[in-house]
This record gives sequence, C-alpha cells and structure tokens, in this order.
Amino acid sequence: MQYPKELTGALELIWGEGMLSPGGPDKVAQMLEGIDLSGNRVLDIGSGLGGIDLLLATKHGAAAVIGIDVEPQLIKSARDLAARKGLAGRVTFQLVTPGKLSFADASFDLVFSKDAMVHIADKLAVYAEVLRVLKPGGWFIGADWLWSEGAAESGVVHAWLSKSPPGFAFTTPATALQALIDAGFTDPTVTDFRKELQEANRKEIALLKGSARQKLAATLGTETAEGRLAGAQGRQAALDSGDLIPCHLRGRRPT
Ligand SMILES: C[S@@+](CC[C@H](N)C(=O)[O-])C[C@H]1O[C@@H](n2cnc3c(N)ncnc32)[C@H](O)[C@@H]1O
Repeated sequence: MQYPKELTGALELIWGEGMLSPGGPDKVAQMLEGIDLSGNRVLDIGSGLGGIDLLLATKHGAAAVIGIDVEPQLIKSARDLAARKGLAGRVTFQLVTPGKLSFADASFDLVFSKDAMVHIADKLAVYAEVLRVLKPGGWFIGADWLWSEGAAESGVVHAWLSKSPPGFAFTTPATALQALIDAGFTDPTVTDFRKELQEANRKEIALLKGSARQKLAATLGTETAEGRLAGAQGRQAALDSGDLIPCHLRGRRPT
C-alpha cells in the first residue's frame, strides 16, 4: 500500500478534502482550460480520494465520472465522499489492477489523470490504452511529475526520494511526448509547469513549518509532520535544481 491513512490524511490536510495532489480546484480548471465537459462521460485514472472527480461532475458539468484506482482503501474513501456529497449516482469508482483498462473501445469523451501516471512505468502502454478507450475526437488531459535527462543520477533527487514514498516511475518530457505520438494522439503537448509548482511547494513548506505542523502532529503524529516537511523540502530542492519537471499533458484521439 503506497497511500496509507497517515499519508492520505496528511495530504488532504494540506491540499484539501479528497485531494492527494497540489493545486486544488484552480489547478483542475487550469488543466481543463478551453475544454467543455458538459454532458461528457469521463474516466479519471488514479482517482485517489475522489475530490477531483466530484469537481469534474459539479464545477465542470461532466454527466458521468468513473474514477479508477489500484488501492481498495482509496476506492472506499472516494465512494464514501461521493455518497456524502449526494453524487454517488454520477461519480463512481472502480478498483482496478495495473495494466490494460477494463473498458470497451471508445467509451469516454475525455480521460483525465492527475499526478498518477508517475506510478506507471510503461507510458506508451498506458497512453495507448487511454487512446483506445477515448471516442474519436476525445481528449486526454493529464498532469504528471516528469524529470530531466540525467535526473536519475542526481544527488538532489536521491536525497529527496530517500525521504518520500517509493513507487515512482519518472520519464522525461521528450520521452513522454514521443510516447503520446507513438500511441497515436494528434497534436500532443507536454507543457512545463515547474515555475508554478516551485511557488506552490514553497507555500506548502511554509504551511508545514507553521499552522499545518501543529495540526498534523496532533492528528497523525510528530513523525508524520516531520516526514511531510522533509519530503516537501526535498521536492523543493529537486524543483529548484531543474531535475523535477511537473508537466501538463494533452492529446486528442484522431477523428
Ligand atoms: C498522487 S495520487 C493522486 C490522486 C488524485 N489524482 C489526486 O490528484 O488527488 C496518485 C494515485 O494514483 C494511484 N495509482 C497508482 N498506480 C495506478 C495505476 N496503475 N492505475 C490507477 N491508479 C494508480 C494511486 O493509488 C493514487 O491514488
């Protein structure tokens, strides 16, 4: 289990209810800029606690959202959250195993994924599956943690990852773009959002040294509070050195 309660509780406390990644509603809106989800059927790969899936349905008007994830306790929490918000009919969650998607070809208008594909090693295989389940003309909209050429050997990255949960499978922006092209997407883009994340991460560190520290220590223990701070500081160093490159990814299934 990569996302136990101590970790998800800490992430939610920092990033908001149902969120396991930074940015909240504004970041989701930014990722979807220029795209109208009204009436759409949407798949979210790596849905975590489900906060984003609720937003896709409420703020962005998707008719149906299916979130998939590999961890049963996250699926349960996401279902509970959707039920508490009265959205259990429109926003559903499925436990999956890594690998091929269990949906028919052309099932979705849009496939979304935020900060989850970093856990999937074979990018070409996952992008090919995304393309397969998209309807012709449908969009893939993603955000992911990528890294620079040579970052695998970077001391800054090693120091950061030694304080972070395991299970990352980073790739470079160039490799991700090529994989989107090879999978068959039209007009794929990989856009560097490092500057924005540097700023956001600085704010997170300030929180973890200030008000969030007390709350985290009180609810999840001092060790968790210290661990989150060390992780955020390591991530800051990797962002500042240019090794870590958070990106937005887009591609469209040809019509
Ligand atoms: C950093 S969390 C992001 C969760 C959510 N997208 C968010 O932003 O709040 C990464 C998620 O990806 C999930 N995950 C990891 N490997 C996966 C896979 N092969 N298929 C689907 N989800 C996966 C994890 O269980 C976790 O919930």
